[in-house]
Amino acid sequence: MANPTDSKSAKITRPKFTGGLAFVLAAAGSAVGLGNIWRFPYLAAQYGGGIFLLTYIILVITLGLTFSLTENALGRMTGKSAIGAFESFGKKYKWIGLFIFLIPVIIFPYYSLIGGWVTKYFVTYATGGSSIAAQEDFFSSFISSPLEPMFWGLLFILFCIFVVWKGVESGIERANKVMMPALFVLLIIVTIYALTLPGAMEGVKYYFVPDFSKFSFEMVLAAMGQMFYSLSLAMAILITYGSYLPKSEDLESSVLKVNLMDTCVAFLAGLMIIPAVFAVLGPENLNSGPGLMFVTLPGVFASTPLPGLMGAFFFLLVIFAAATSGISLFESIVSICTDTFGWTRNKACLIMGIIAIVMMAASSGGYGLLDFVTILGFQILDFFDFISNSVMMPIAAIITCLFVGFVVGTKAIDKEISQTSKFVTKPFYNVMLKFIAPVLVALILISNIVSALAG
Ligand code: TRP
Repeated sequence: MANPTDSKSAKITRPKFTGGLAFVLAAAGSAVGLGNIWRFPYLAAQYGGGIFLLTYIILVITLGLTFSLTENALGRMTGKSAIGAFESFGKKYKWIGLFIFLIPVIIFPYYSLIGGWVTKYFVTYATGGSSIAAQEDFFSSFISSPLEPMFWGLLFILFCIFVVWKGVESGIERANKVMMPALFVLLIIVTIYALTLPGAMEGVKYYFVPDFSKFSFEMVLAAMGQMFYSLSLAMAILITYGSYLPKSEDLESSVLKVNLMDTCVAFLAGLMIIPAVFAVLGPENLNSGPGLMFVTLPGVFASTPLPGLMGAFFFLLVIFAAATSGISLFESIVSICTDTFGWTRNKACLIMGIIAIVMMAASSGGYGLLDFVTILGFQILDFFDFISNSVMMPIAAIITCLFVGFVVGTKAIDKEISQTSKFVTKPFYNVMLKFIAPVLVALILISNIVSALAG
């Protein structure tokens, strides 16, 4: 039987999710990832706890919602992934899609490498190595070894490629239906455990009670950048997933649910990690930045009653979070290749998979064999992260706002959303999209570039 996702038949039967729930789980699977569990807690810890949380939530409800709705509507309206979606408003707009297409192409390889690190931690904990993982130089010596990180990274990336190769319904939908609920259950177990550690309540207070003296412009920008990252905005993903959403489903409420789930997971991850670090190591250890998950947390687990079990649960839930996001990144890449270049799904998986693996090897090598290579002062992985998230993403976001606001017209978006939804956010949608969002995102872009040049 012909694969329904073959390029020739794709025009007739575009793959679709079987319904709203499947869409919500898959889109939430894309959103909920390393950003929620690794990035959000360390940013919240660094930027004053409660005040960061409050700012973040306000941003999600306003800017985040506007953006997610726009991208999903664009996808569903045109029935195409990023390049096709922009092109359908005129050949001269195709380049916007091409530019956005490059973002997941850059993110997927290094994201998978980090997914591989997480897998290594899980296996270490699951095989009774909780004290090994807590040794001070475990992380740095692991990531700088020449072959081992590549082995775990390959395991992770091949899994993502396999799921995408299986297709939208029997691959992506199925994987998310298992991994997302499991993630929630594990997250709740580990959070409850963390909160029962003696001394955790101090940390809970830090996390919940906003200290307005810690409010700063820099904090708002950090929260905003995190929001874009966490909701996977302006990276070609939501346009693609929107195009798989059946026309009969309520777009607005689906998007609301996705954003709610994503914010809940980030919130719980903070609640799991911040008080635990407070209780076991003391507040001064919250400032460990990106090392929070791989270095500080194993130290925390080590001095609790169930280090092996809880460590294994924790890293398993991070694997689920990272895998569902990795899958969506690769799907977005593959979908564009099938839509735009007319490739079959098999061919797209093969070619783009090989490219991703080569780029992953480079990212991994940046910590070991290739550690003499720096690009603009960044290590290879950091460079991929910087260029995609800090530079290209804001540019894509600004272009998307202006394109939708002034070329497609908010009327068309309104029509697409109103077909199935009440569109309760309509009163502020226009102003938000055309004026407020581009200015705010431009500020993120400027601040990212300035801090990179300064750093
Ligand atoms: N949102 C994901 C997370 O929170 C990470 C991410 C960023 C992502 N951009 C993406 C995932 C694009 C999929 C697609 O970890």
